[in-house]
Order: sequence, then C-alpha cells, then structure tokens
Amino acid sequence: MDQLNKNNLLNQVKIKINQGQFSDACSTLYDGLSHIRSHSSAEEWKQFVPQYREHAVSQFFLQDPLTRRAFEKPRGYAGDPVVIDFIYNHDKAAPPCASSSEIPQILNCELNRISHACHAVRERKRILSRKINQTAERVANPYILSVACGYLREALDSVAIQNRNIGKFVAIDQDKESLAVAAEIIKGFGETIHASLIEIISNTVPLPTFDFIYTAGLYDYLPESLAKKLTSNLFNLLNPGGRLLIANYLPDTPSIGYMEAVMDWWLIYRDKEQMQELTQQIPQEKINDVDMFVEKNQVIIFMEIEKVGGG
Ligand SMILES: C[S@@+](CC[C@H](N)C(=O)[O-])C[C@H]1O[C@@H](n2cnc3c(N)ncnc32)[C@H](O)[C@@H]1O
Repeated sequence: MDQLNKNNLLNQVKIKINQGQFSDACSTLYDGLSHIRSHSSAEEWKQFVPQYREHAVSQFFLQDPLTRRAFEKPRGYAGDPVVIDFIYNHDKAAPPCASSSEIPQILNCELNRISHACHAVRERKRILSRKINQTAERVANPYILSVACGYLREALDSVAIQNRNIGKFVAIDQDKESLAVAAEIIKGFGETIHASLIEIISNTVPLPTFDFIYTAGLYDYLPESLAKKLTSNLFNLLNPGGRLLIANYLPDTPSIGYMEAVMDWWLIYRDKEQMQELTQQIPQEKINDVDMFVEKNQVIIFMEIEKVGGG
C-alpha cells in the first residue's frame, strides 16, 4: 500500500468529518485501516501508525469514550473492565445513536455497531454465561473459577447463578476495583481473591479444585511461555472430568487496524495451532478432550480442555 493511498484515506475521512458525516467518517476509517494493515508488512504498519497519530483526524476519534479510555489506559492497559462495559452496554435498550447529535455518542454507537471485535466481546460474554449454566447441568453444585474476572458481567446473565445452583464461585483478579464489583455479584456463594497470575503460577494462592475454570481477556496479553505455564497450572486445579476454557483473539480480524492505530490497543493473537500449543506442558494422558471453536463473528477462538475422569 503506497503513501498516496494512505493519505487519500485520511483526507477522505477529514472531508466527511467537515461535512458532519460522523458515522460515515468512522466506518470509512475503520474499513480503510483494516485494508491498509492487511496490505502492509508488519514493519510498514508500525511506520504508518505514528503517521496516523500525527494527522488532524486522529484527535477527532478520541472523542469516542471507548476509544479514548483504551488509548489513555488509566489502569495501565487498554482493555480494562470500564472499556469492556462500554462494549457490553451497547446491548442494552435502544442505543441513542440514531437520534443523538452529540459527537461522542455518535462515534461510540457507530464503533459498537460496525466493530467485529465489539460484537465478538458481547458474544464472548454470552458464551461464558452458557458455559456456567452447562456446568451446573453437568455437575451438582459445581465449583467454578473465573481467572482475571474483571466485572464478572457474564455471571449476571447466568440462570445457574440467578438460581444459586453453584457450590462455590471463585473470582480472581489483580485489580481491587474489579473485585469489588465481582464480589457483589457472587455474594453468598462466592469468594474474590486479589492475586496476579504470577502468584497463581507460583502456587502461592491457596485454591480448592474446580469443575469449570475459565479466563477471557487475559491470554491476549500473555506471551507464549507464561500462557503455557498458566494453562498447565489451571489444568492442575481441575477436578476429574473438569473443564478449562480459554478465550483468545484470532489473528487478522478486521478490527485490528482501528484497535492498534486509533486505540493503541495491541494484543497477542493466536490461531488454532497456537492455542493447541498452549497444552504442551500438560501430560497428554491427563487430557480427555480438547475442543476448539470460534464464535460467530470469527474474531475470538475458544479452547476447552477436559480432564480425564469424572462420571
Ligand atoms: C479485559 S478484562 C476481562 C474481564 C472479564 N474476564 C471479561 O471477559 O469481561 C481483563 C482483566 O484481567 C485482569 N488482569 C490482567 N492482567 C492480570 C494478571 N497478570 N493477573 C490477574 N489479573 C489480570 C485485569 O485486572 C482485568 O480485570
């Protein structure tokens, strides 16, 4: 992709902004960045990102509260639970975008509407809720562990949790603010633990064993060695027949251009083979099954590892 085409995109976006076509400007930028990224080498893309940030249009898109918070990283990383809530909340009631004349709302609504990653994050939450329910159907009074739980919003949608069909729900996070929100949701049948994954890996967090362990929004930040070690440690915490579910973004999805250039949100992407490699430190005879599936937006891959044993 040559410089002329890159400049053309940004100038086209600028014209749309000047004409007051804000939604259109957002979708043109989103599609254009995806196109540029997929037609660039990694090196060319890394050179383009600072050029985008210096262009006049870049400040405009930081008016979207989701984009701005990811970009500013008040908790030290882009995808904090407040950012995730900006995505989840788009599901609720009628979004104000159609009627709003406020630029931040228009941009927020348009991004939530067009972004494959936003749709996938909402779908990921639905999948996690279903998996919690299925665990309670599979095992009476199951023990469940959420690692890097954030605000644990998926638990609010789970019928098993609403009906208290859970033996114990443990939620771990390194962020006390997140744990305070999660604690309210699992009050009476759960426990929150303030710990980092390094403490989990070094076995300094006393934990029982579980029928279902899951983690979403964590592996996307973990380099391979750490991800492999955590996978094997979490697997060791499973009861016989227990299941470990790990979510990760797939490479080359259309949202990555906007996420990296506009939001400064860089993740570690994994395909099916790279997910499979995460099981390498688990003795293979202890694995009953590895199920791999991709949610309907083709953005997030899930790996569910089942331990041998059980009924
Ligand atoms: C993107 S949020 C995901 C929240 C939730 N799992 C969800 O799907 O909505 C990531 C969470 O991981 C937590 N986290 C990130 N790195 C961590 C680490 N090294 N140890 C423990 N928690 C971590 C953050 O505090 C944050 O709450």
